[in-house]
Amino acid sequence: MAEKLFNIVIAGGGSTYTPGIVKMMLEHQEDFPLNSVTLYDNDGERQAVIGEALEILMKEEAPQIHFSYTTDPKEAFTGKDFCMAHIRVGKYAMRQLDERIPLKYGVVGQETCGPGGIAYGMRSITGMLEIIDYMVKYSPECWMLNYSNPAAIVAEACRVLRPDARVINICDMPVGTRRRMAYIVGKDYEDLDVRYFGLNHFGWWTSVKDKTTGEDYMPKLLEYVSENGYLTQKAIETQHMDESWQATHKKAKDLLALDPRFLPNTYLKYYLYPDYVVEHSDPNHTRADEVIEGREKEVFGAAREIIRKGTATGGEFTVDNHASFIVSLARAIAYNTHEIMLCIVENKGAISNFDSDAMVEVPCVVGNNGPEAMCQGEIPTFERGMMQEQLAVEKLVVEAYVEHSYLKLWQALTLSKTVPSAGVAKQILDDLIEANKEYWPELK
Ligand code: NAD
Ligand code: G6P
Ligand code: MN
Repeated sequence: MAEKLFNIVIAGGGSTYTPGIVKMMLEHQEDFPLNSVTLYDNDGERQAVIGEALEILMKEEAPQIHFSYTTDPKEAFTGKDFCMAHIRVGKYAMRQLDERIPLKYGVVGQETCGPGGIAYGMRSITGMLEIIDYMVKYSPECWMLNYSNPAAIVAEACRVLRPDARVINICDMPVGTRRRMAYIVGKDYEDLDVRYFGLNHFGWWTSVKDKTTGEDYMPKLLEYVSENGYLTQKAIETQHMDESWQATHKKAKDLLALDPRFLPNTYLKYYLYPDYVVEHSDPNHTRADEVIEGREKEVFGAAREIIRKGTATGGEFTVDNHASFIVSLARAIAYNTHEIMLCIVENKGAISNFDSDAMVEVPCVVGNNGPEAMCQGEIPTFERGMMQEQLAVEKLVVEAYVEHSYLKLWQALTLSKTVPSAGVAKQILDDLIEANKEYWPELK
């Protein structure tokens, strides 16, 4: 029988991550061979820059793979095996507002955490439902590997609103941090066997061992992180390298202090040290501005250069090796590899003393039925208390979206550990409603 060649649609074709992911997939033609790659975006103009450049690159590097880009959902989603989704509803302009509005009130302004993440969540749900429905309509067997943010809220929305759709929500933060851990103990990413529990952007590693020998690396890692956080002398990742990210890796040191047994996800800094974060934020120049001036400028600059020269042989686009976990995930489903990966899935007892219907991030065995959560047992009171509060925030956002409820969204903002009072929550909410008029359902 001829080998199966896969058909891929990348939703959010105009994303800054698209070229790196396409190049990374080209490096995997031996173990994940492709028949076609289609980019889909609802902003044709933005996507055309990336699309035109990748078309030149594909002709040079992989003429056997059919490549196209389109804004037509039918064309994009028909005959596909995998949809790799990374859309950003409202693009960077709205990310800027998500980050700036809370900061006006002295509250953390962040892409996925606190009020900014809630605002982004209310926008993302609509965009996600749209692409999920296209996928189900045009390729009912297709799997969506979604990393559109805020993944926690998106995952809860999928659980409630599209429970039967084949959508797997994933995050690259634990991947990047694990790469750092491997470097710290002198091993490779694949050598480690980890245990982890939490919500997305809200979790802890409880065990890091050698996959072959079983050697326990926790003592060494705990010691290292208690002094340096996850900061390393050598550049370990391709992303998460800007100065502000370095500060975040370093801050893990102070997160570990709260529970010296577990290795924290760096995102916990927004919940454990919100005052510190606000103090170190510039309300007129947030992370969105850094990305616009950095990654977006570089990627789109490189694309325009390829188009101008008519060739991609100058190495303008670089491989995003860091994103190879997406291919591992697709492979696990396609070939039933039963690889263990962190995914965001319904708890159903995996964390035994936590809500069964919570979308949690835990190691999963991935095969052709998708991810199956591995049991992580009981978690301690401190972590459980934090998670319970944050879970309520995420559930209330989805309920607010479904019921068009102002009250529930106000409750969600009030419950966020990043927000000091119901009064401040209300002021931020009213500003966010104004800013998101075009995107949110009208709240009553
Ligand atoms: P970007 O703005 O460069 O790209 C997003 C693209 O999505 C844009 O071209 C936009 O036009 C498109 N888009 C928006 N709404 C759409 C819709 N309804 N249908 C189709 N396309 C739509 O953003 P980026 O910085 O490259 O990030 C892309 C996404 O990936 C974001 O959601 C980001 O948060 C997420 N991300 C997640 C992880 C993770 O760990 N889960 C890691 C990296 C990036
Ligand atoms: C990590 C997170 C993503 C998030 C990204 C933000 O990779 O896991 O969920 O989108 O960081 O990075 P940026 O460079 O856009 O601030
Ligand atoms: Mn993430």
